Amino acid sequence: MNIIYIALCVLVSNCWAGVPWKGEPQKTDWYASRHEGLLNQTAEHKGDLKVIFFGDSITEGWNGGWAKGKELWDKYYVPRHVYNYGVGADRTENLIWRMENGEFDGLNATVVVLKIGTNNLFDNTEEDIAHGVREVLYQLLRRQPNAKIILLGIIPRDGKLDEKVHTINAIIGDYKDDKTIFYLDMNSHFETASGVEIPDLYLEDKVHLTLKGYQVWHDVMEPLFSVPWKGEPRTEDWWKQRHQSLLKQTADHKADLKVIFFGDSITEGWGGAGKALWDKYYVPRHAYNYAIGGDRTEHLIWRMENGEFEGLNSTLVVLKIGTNNLGANTEKDIAHGIKEILDQLETRQPNAKILLLGIIPRDGKTDDLVKNINDIIATYKDDKKIFFLNMNSHYETAPGVEVPDLYVADKVHLTAKGYQTNNIMRLLLMDDSYGVCRLSPAAPIPDWVPRSQSQRQTLVSITYTTDELSIVCPLQSIPNGVQCERNWRCIKIIGPLDFGQIGIISSLTAPLARNSIPVFIISTFDTDYILVKETHSVR
Ligand SMILES: *[C@@H]1O[C@H](CO)[C@@H](O)[C@H](O)[C@H]1NC(C)=O
Ligand SMILES: *[C@@H]1O[C@H](CO)[C@@H](O)[C@H](O)[C@H]1NC(C)=O
Ligand SMILES: *[C@@H]1O[C@H](CO)[C@@H](O)[C@H](O)[C@H]1NC(C)=O
Repeated sequence: MNIIYIALCVLVSNCWAGVPWKGEPQKTDWYASRHEGLLNQTAEHKGDLKVIFFGDSITEGWNGGWAKGKELWDKYYVPRHVYNYGVGADRTENLIWRMENGEFDGLNATVVVLKIGTNNLFDNTEEDIAHGVREVLYQLLRRQPNAKIILLGIIPRDGKLDEKVHTINAIIGDYKDDKTIFYLDMNSHFETASGVEIPDLYLEDKVHLTLKGYQVWHDVMEPLFSVPWKGEPRTEDWWKQRHQSLLKQTADHKADLKVIFFGDSITEGWGGAGKALWDKYYVPRHAYNYAIGGDRTEHLIWRMENGEFEGLNSTLVVLKIGTNNLGANTEKDIAHGIKEILDQLETRQPNAKILLLGIIPRDGKTDDLVKNINDIIATYKDDKKIFFLNMNSHYETAPGVEVPDLYVADKVHLTAKGYQTNNIMRLLLMDDSYGVCRLSPAAPIPDWVPRSQSQRQTLVSITYTTDELSIVCPLQSIPNGVQCERNWRCIKIIGPLDFGQIGIISSLTAPLARNSIPVFIISTFDTDYILVKETHSVR
């Protein structure tokens, strides 16, 4: 096999170009000097480098010698401590060689943008080029273990239909895991049809980019580049108008607003598919919707920082965000973004409880990303000010299998029925721990039983039967020596419930029963209370 390969190579001179997944330098003095310059750059910027742009001449063109992208580079990337490691004519094997020869030694990048392969197109097969890209990724993972890697597809070149580019992109697109490696195929922005380049994005050589081409690259990549915990506005005009109308909503309803719904299109949909339920459940509670479709964590932060809640004094904020950060940010970073929103809400709405909702499944697929993020953000609750609710057991029948009639066809947004399920505000975890006491049926009501409501939400229940006097009240009131089952937490179903709404209790308690979690139910004229043993109420 090797002999045949060597024999073929002698016949086909291009084989000398190398194996795409084995490190090899370009063999010119110019290249040696470029490499030395990059080693110098590394030595000089160890302390401040945050982002690496890694690739060939198209990457180099951001700010290199002929520098078509320089103006944008200075504007967008210099302030973020981005350094360019693009070298003209480089192929996958050259990138590997440069890494193996120290270019990233001692660096600790947070992001690496990788774009490579176009110079391999004429000498290597699709599979071999993809193999080369994979090797670059492996080495990056090892050499820059704290970096998020943004892998860009090969863009069209030479103004012709090139199935090879699409085939390679299809293979390398699969290397993403949406945790560390993210993939972005920019071709729909660079060609009008397969192989038909958009003319003013390319220079005359139909390979390299104009300033406008770099602008497109930036715009398309920006969401992946975003920092989920730093406030950032969106650029669309309609979005700015929405922000203005929300500022007006704030000004108009300072006095009566009690509840803020804060989020993205799924929350916004309370005004669409969920409108009938919104009018029924939330309008009477003075709830207002502050959700904008497509928003990510950073956009919510920007909106808060730009006055949307100024002068409001809400009692409850329902926060549901993060689904639009999926595919652009790491789990940790998305959770960090949500944490920042919570921190800002605590200072901006100091009298509000915050109900943080987990991300619900999307795209009808198994997604441990969603699960992992929910696991992280669940730890942000303190059950005093911040409450967390993971609704996923209601939205999926098995991990990743969405309950169909809760979602519209895009498998992201909700139907009216989906909003009914989403109508979880009726649950409130009350402050105290409770005890369930048993006394003699002949005993009077003891003095230690609280007789009036304090400031806190409190439940006191006294039941006489022929067999017992049963008292449920906050644990701190109950003296030692009383026969008592301790440490129950109480979930109030915020009513008043319509007596016709049967099935609510069973829909709540059935999942608990399935998990062998003991529950104790107290029904009143207005509503119901579910008591759950303390060790279980955190679920
Ligand atoms: C790299 O740095 C060394 C030492 O400062 C210097 O002599 C050399 O000229 C630099 N090389 C390049 C290509 O900038
Ligand atoms: C590299 O950066 C990460 C954060 O991105 C940090 O946790 C780690 O300690 C840094 N490592 C070094 C060697 O500076
Ligand atoms: C905000 O509401 C709380 C009750 O939730 C009240 O105690 C406080 O005085 C109000 N603050 C302002 C500035 O209206």
